[in-house]
Amino acid sequence: MRNKLSKLLLLLALVSSLTFGPARAAGPTGADGLADPLFPLLGNGGYDALHYTLDLKPAMEQESLSGTVTMEARATQDLAAFNLDFAGFTIRQLTVNDAPAQYTRSTHELTITPAKPLKMGDTFTTAITYDGSPETSSVDGIETGWRWYNNGSFAANEPAGAAGWFPVNDHPLDKASYTFRVTVAKPYVVAANGLLKNTIDNGDTTTYLWEESKPMASYLATVDIARYTMQTDKSPGGVAIRNYFPEGMAPEETQMYSRTREMIDFFSSIYGPYPFDVYGVVIADTELGFALETQTLSLFGRTRSANRRVGQIAPEEVVAHELSHQWFGDSVSLKSWEDIWLNEGFATYSQFLWLEHVSGKDALDSRMRGIYRLLDTQRGTGETGRPDVQTLFDTNLIYLRGSLVLHALRMHVGDETFFNIMRTYADRFRYSNANTADFIKVANEVSGQDLTSFFQTWLFDSKLPAIPEIGLSPSA
Ligand code: TRP
Ligand code: ZN
Repeated sequence: MRNKLSKLLLLLALVSSLTFGPARAAGPTGADGLADPLFPLLGNGGYDALHYTLDLKPAMEQESLSGTVTMEARATQDLAAFNLDFAGFTIRQLTVNDAPAQYTRSTHELTITPAKPLKMGDTFTTAITYDGSPETSSVDGIETGWRWYNNGSFAANEPAGAAGWFPVNDHPLDKASYTFRVTVAKPYVVAANGLLKNTIDNGDTTTYLWEESKPMASYLATVDIARYTMQTDKSPGGVAIRNYFPEGMAPEETQMYSRTREMIDFFSSIYGPYPFDVYGVVIADTELGFALETQTLSLFGRTRSANRRVGQIAPEEVVAHELSHQWFGDSVSLKSWEDIWLNEGFATYSQFLWLEHVSGKDALDSRMRGIYRLLDTQRGTGETGRPDVQTLFDTNLIYLRGSLVLHALRMHVGDETFFNIMRTYADRFRYSNANTADFIKVANEVSGQDLTSFFQTWLFDSKLPAIPEIGLSPSA
């Protein structure tokens, strides 16, 4: 009887698995995306990630990673199954609340069916052990993810590269705190977001324990490995600074970072207190064509011509740009990638505010006039408030016109109101998320004006608007 029953059950299981696939969950499943207009499959629904622990052992010679990533999360609905974003690697073990769970994979979606369904409101822990070589991906011509170079590695994820090296709810809407426990062969040094809590000598290897306790978007997570020298400093206002420079980097090359201490206090004075526990830069020991505002630890590459200007832009401005992102992008994060001008337009205008701070009003004025004329000759630049995947990081459309939106706003409402708007926005959405409508609401409220049509023409009309207050209008 028992034997017959178990045979029947086995048969049923076999039939249902043939019919429905091995890991198809019966019951509610978390969505496989967060309905981002540009990246519908980034992030996942049904839960809120609270904390990630990345326990990683990078093999520098083999250019491979192995480790275990744990996500603590809270179910926001009943879940028979849920997704993480994760690409590549071989999964060796996967548990939910310490019990082995079933899973299936397709491109960068990992679908997990826990042994016991989760109830709305439950907190749960998912642990995934994996190994292999990280996969990089490309958006708007920038290769993102975990990248190796001759004598080290770095991770730069914006917008969708995090899932190429760890399983994650990969959208800025779901921020979480992070622990990084990274073990590398000597004499490599590991830098990551937040505070270095411990360094453990294991003989041939060293384990670095880093903690970022403030909410962080996954694209801002970074682990950077090289033969590093750490240098500490403190801003006059009291913000701790730690920089990671490749061993033996010449003073001419570190010089562009030396005013970070003043910049922190300058931006704190106009935008409100620096939002995190610590700041600094990490320099990948390889040439890079970009820099990234990785939280608490902005990432740069080496530049042979360290202090040469690129066009008008002094290298120090890029340092100010990445620092200002800590307020705009990192503390106040995007609700949707379409709103990228809220990051890049703000950081670009911030670097110009630093220019104004050190070189005066005329320097800012002529910079903004130059940009206006440049965009004017391009006969419209598209819609800054609505880019597509190909123009997400477009210099003219997002960085330059984005900065001009803020300059035009400042000319329109005056300095006092403008800086009030910026401070109120940074404060109201600190450690959270905002979109263009949220910013317009703050601007209307603080100025006491209805600026809806001002923003409409600047952000959603491709024609370049005039800035009548300073006599700028399009030539045709
Ligand atoms: N946000 C970066 C900046 O400050 C630009 C950027 C976008 C980037 N995607 C990236 C940098 C990926 C490094 C890797 O302008
Ligand atoms: Zn930027």
